[in-house]
Amino acid sequence: MSLLLGVNVDHVATLRQARYALLPDSPNAEPCPLQGSLDAIAGGADSITIHVRGDRRHMQEADAFRIKQAIHVPLNLEMGVTAEMIDIALRLQPTFVCLVPETREEVTTEGGLDVLSRRREVGDCIRLMQQSGIRVSLFIDPEMEQVRCAAELGAEMIELHTGCFGNATATTIDAEISRLREASIKGHEIGLQVNAGHGIHYQNCRLLEEVPHLSEYNIGHSIVSRAMRVGMEQAVREMKALMSQYP
Ligand code: PXP
Repeated sequence: MSLLLGVNVDHVATLRQARYALLPDSPNAEPCPLQGSLDAIAGGADSITIHVRGDRRHMQEADAFRIKQAIHVPLNLEMGVTAEMIDIALRLQPTFVCLVPETREEVTTEGGLDVLSRRREVGDCIRLMQQSGIRVSLFIDPEMEQVRCAAELGAEMIELHTGCFGNATATTIDAEISRLREASIKGHEIGLQVNAGHGIHYQNCRLLEEVPHLSEYNIGHSIVSRAMRVGMEQAVREMKALMSQYP
């Protein structure tokens, strides 16, 4: 199967909120995250990813429901493991959810979810989602114990956190790729679908060809940034072209 691309459109909403935080539903509120999603799909996005954060800094609940209703590709809801987000997910019924750590101060998701220390609540959340027919991915650091624990808790998928890979320098990049390689091989071996996300951009994307068994990338910032120059459709098309080289 070819490598799939989930386009994270949160930052379309980030720009809208910069001006219209108090009026996100105004007819003048732009840019529109739903239109961004439709343009991404036109460019070849295989799924749309959104993160409704506790502080609503970009996506609003209404965006999530609008996007869910209008798109014909899978919707991936990134969510913190909180009662509020569980309630939204159960009402929204995305195709899958990706459980992420979430703190108020962070600029973006920093570090993977520590499923080892949060076994009980993560396990409970996985069961609630699955009972409702929603598949579950866990956003984790590329560490063996986290991968094993994700499988023990019954998740179908993991998303390997590629943030350190994205920030790597010439001296650290090989070590970061090795960590991702080992985690991906282990995940695949124990029956998990292995995805990757965070900090993937047009320049580093092909380095991930060294990591086997990847099913899907979730990419936001670099695609939305590129879209400002060439439009969303073309930005997605260019990323898909790079990804088509994945072995
Ligand atoms: N995957 C997860 C779990 C994330 O939290 C994010 C950031 O919202 C991404 C992927 C996309 O990361 P980026 O914007 O760096 O491409």
